Amino acid sequence: MAAAAIGILTVSDRASRGAYEDRGGPAIAAELARILASPWQAVPRLVPDEQPLIEAALRDLADQHGCCLVVTTGGTGPAPRDVTPEATEAVCERMLPGFGEAMRAASLRSVPTAILSRQTAGTRGRCLIVNLPGKPAAIAECLGAVFPAIPYGIDLIGGPRLETNPGICRAFRPAGT
Ligand code: MTE
Repeated sequence: MAAAAIGILTVSDRASRGAYEDRGGPAIAAELARILASPWQAVPRLVPDEQPLIEAALRDLADQHGCCLVVTTGGTGPAPRDVTPEATEAVCERMLPGFGEAMRAASLRSVPTAILSRQTAGTRGRCLIVNLPGKPAAIAECLGAVFPAIPYGIDLIGGPRLETNPGICRAFRPAGT
C-alpha cells in the first residue's frame, strides 16, 4: 500500500523567522504517528502569517504533493495577523464547519479562551484541510475531538483508506463501508 501523504503546515511569524523553534508541526506529526495504523508520510511546511503564502502552501500540498489531509497549526485567533481560516476558505471548494465547532467545544472544557479560535476545515479536490490552534497543547485535544470522522471524510472525497490504532482513536465508518 502506498503511503498516504499528509501535509503539516505551521503558520507562525516567529517560528518562520527562527525566533523560536516550531513545536506545533512536530507535535502534529507525533500525534498522527500515534493515531494512524496505515502507512503515511508527513510533508512539513512552515510559513509566516501571510495569507498569500498560506494559500500557496495549501495549494502545493493538496495539488502537487497529493496530500489527502493537511493539518495546519496557528493563526486562528482574532489578532490582526491571524489569517489561517481566511486562507483555508480561499483555497477550499467546500467548508466543513462542524470540525471547528467540535474542536472548540472540546477545548472549551479545558480553557475558556478556546472560544477565540476561528479554526475551520474544508475540502480542496481530494484533500481535507483542518485548522488547529497554535498552542502545541491544543493539538492532541483538537485532533482527538475530530479524528474519528476524518478517515470516512477522506473516503467520501476519493482519498486513500486511512486506518487508525483503535486503542488511540476509533475511526467511525458507517456499517458496510
Ligand atoms: N484550544 C486549546 N485546546 N487550547 C488552547 O490553549 N488557545 C486558544 C484557542 N484555542 C487554546 C485553544 C487561544 S488563547 C486562541 S487566541 C485561539 O485558540 C487561537 O490561537 P492561534 O491564533 O494560535 O491559532
